This record gives sequence, structure tokens and C-alpha cells, in this order.
Amino acid sequence: MCTGQPLRLPDHSSFRLKAFFERNLFRTGYGTHGLFPYRGKFHPQMVKALMNIMGLKPGQTVLDPMMGSGTVCVEASLMGINSIGIDISPFCEFMARTKLTALTMDLTRVHSARENVGRVFEYFTRRLGPQPMEEKRKLASRNPITIQSLREDEALLLRTGGGRDTFDTQNLLLLAYLDSIGYAERIRGKDPAKLLCGILDRYLFVCEKIQATLGSDCAWLGKATLLTGDARALPMAEGSVDGILFSPPYSFAVDYVANDSFHLQALGVDVANLREMMVGLRGGPRLRDKYDTYRQDMKRILEECGRVLKSGGLCTVVIGTNSNQISRALRIAEEKVQGLNELIRQLAHESGLDFIQQIDRPVLGLANTMREEHVVFLQKK
Ligand SMILES: C[S@@+](CC[C@H](N)C(=O)[O-])C[C@H]1O[C@@H](n2cnc3c(N)ncnc32)[C@H](O)[C@@H]1O
Repeated sequence: MCTGQPLRLPDHSSFRLKAFFERNLFRTGYGTHGLFPYRGKFHPQMVKALMNIMGLKPGQTVLDPMMGSGTVCVEASLMGINSIGIDISPFCEFMARTKLTALTMDLTRVHSARENVGRVFEYFTRRLGPQPMEEKRKLASRNPITIQSLREDEALLLRTGGGRDTFDTQNLLLLAYLDSIGYAERIRGKDPAKLLCGILDRYLFVCEKIQATLGSDCAWLGKATLLTGDARALPMAEGSVDGILFSPPYSFAVDYVANDSFHLQALGVDVANLREMMVGLRGGPRLRDKYDTYRQDMKRILEECGRVLKSGGLCTVVIGTNSNQISRALRIAEEKVQGLNELIRQLAHESGLDFIQQIDRPVLGLANTMREEHVVFLQKK
């Protein structure tokens, strides 16, 4: 799945980006992992390696209680492992569901929409209102797309009847549209309507490639259950999952609500309310208070992980520390900042999860803020 022809990127991509994806070993965009560049998402190859190390087998169930873009669920599916993915952000549920559906969905209608890409862009712009760079992020969506309104509208865009195919197509097009808006915000001066063409080409390329690799009998793919929910109160029975693999926010290092505000509002989400539920962003008003709340939240999450994990099962946490940011928030020297990996180990011990092992890996390109990430393996007694 990772080798073969180089990933086809839009012509305007930088030389560096092209070189990165042309070295097949580092092709992180295989399968449907390449759909939507969610900030802080896992390397799919690392997820695969970790699930192998954890000894997870086809038919077993892995939980990612903070799934983000759903990397664990997509990769588990490709390994025949069932998964449960939870995130507090409804945009994450939408993203993960679209990526999983894209493994097997019929792409015929996406092709016809690609032929009419100008209409697709106009349609979503009319529905969702001005783009964030025009409105400086203070946008109030004119007519947010909720999952319910998508169902009602499903036949409108392609005028080809309703049904599952149209719904799946519209979700993939919406994800591509949101991708183009985010992309245009990051690299100012680019026209999002033009970016959408390149993004749709890439989406079609990766989806067709993985579908050709998987073939027509996909009954062996792992089943994924995706939910919008809170990792501090998991909606699952005690001892119900075989393994847990996740990466929590690295305290307040990334503002997931501000990053995705256009996308969240496009789906009709109340962003102020979401911020109150978001680990790392909750609490305050001072950063010190946020950090204390983060510690309490992580304790609850690890207790929940300990509760839903089967006896002997592994819970693997991937985490790094932005010690510079935390030292400023706590007003202590950077060397005195407790690594978040150390915090996880301490809280896990209090939650009945034994520390087994830690793997450290260098983080390339972020040397000023974070030099290492840590993979912490914990086991339920
Ligand atoms: C580091 S990201 C995870 C990225 C993910 N591993 C991926 O591959 O895309 C952390 C995630 O935690 C989620 N999160 C924050 N607070 C949460 C909560 N209370 N319950 C569940 N998820 C939460 C955020 O929305 C964010 O998507």
C-alpha cells in the first residue's frame, strides 16, 4: 500500500513537499490517510507498528478515545482489527467517517463532480457563507451543514437521485472543500476554488489506489464505530476493549477549536461550548489554571482507559512536551518542567495501569519547541 507510483500532488506543491512524498518509505498519505491534513495527526506507519507491538489481532477491538482524524481507526480497519474512535469534536467524527467510507465507496459520482468542480465550489460557498480569510474568522455561517441537512440536501448537488452513494459523495466533496479553505488560509494568495481541483484529484487518486489494492471483497476489513464523545466519560462497559492507542493534546500546545473554527461552524457546532469540553483548552482564565485542569482531565481519562480495558491489555499513549510554553505558563525554569510523559506515567500508576516501557523518538523540524515525542506503554493488571 505504501509503495508503487509516487503520490500525485497538485502542480503548485512545493519542491520540498513533492520530494517528501516521492520517497515512498515516508508516504504517510497511503490508504485514505492522505485525506485532510489534521494538525497533530499520527504517522499511520507508526500506528501500524504500535498495533503490531501491542499484539492486536484481526477480530479484536482497539479504542482511540481522542481519535482526531481517525488514523488509528483507518489503519486498524486495514489490518482487519475492529476499532472504536471517539473525539469531542464533531468535525473529527465527520473526518474519520469520511476517510473510512472512502476505503470502499463508489467513486463514480465524485468523478462527475470533479468535472463540475466550479459548481461544487459555488454550492458549498453559497451554503456555508464567506471564507475565513475574508471574514477574519468571525464568520457566522449563513446556513451550516449539519448531518441532518446533508441528508435532506443530498440529491441537490449532483441531481442524481438520493441514496447512500450520493450521501457518501457529498461528504467527500465537503471534506475536500473544507480542506481547500484551510489550505488557502495557510498559504495566502492562493485561490481556494483552484486548490479544490488539485485536492479533488488527489482524493480520487488515493481512493482509487487503495480500492484497487483492497479488491472487491472487503468483508475482512475491521469494523469501526465512530462517536462524538468525551474521553473523560467513555460510553463503554468495563473490560470491553483489547487495547487502547491514543495521543492526547500536549496540554494547551494546539488550539484545536480555533484551528478548525470554520470547519466546525460549517457543521453547525457551537464552538464556545466545545472549548469548554476540550482537554488542554478548558479551565482558566490563566494558563496555569488550564494546566491544572489538564492534569485533572488526564487523570480522569487514564482512569476511564483503565476501566474499559481488558485485564492484561495494553494502553499506549503518544505524547510530547512543549516545555518552553509550559515553563512560561507556570513561571518556572524550562529544565524544571515535568515532561508530560512523566505526568502520564505518574497518573497511570494512580489509575491502576502499570508502566511497561517507553520509546523515545526525535521530532524533526520542531527543535525549538519540542525535541522528542514519547510512546508510553501501560498495562492493566
Ligand atoms: C493530538 S489530537 C489526536 C490526533 C489523532 N491521533 C490523529 O491521528 O488525527 C488530540 C485530539 O483530542 C481531542 N480531544 C480534546 N478533548 C477531548 C475530550 N474531552 N474527549 C475526546 N477527545 C478530545 C481533540 O479534538 C483532538 O482531536
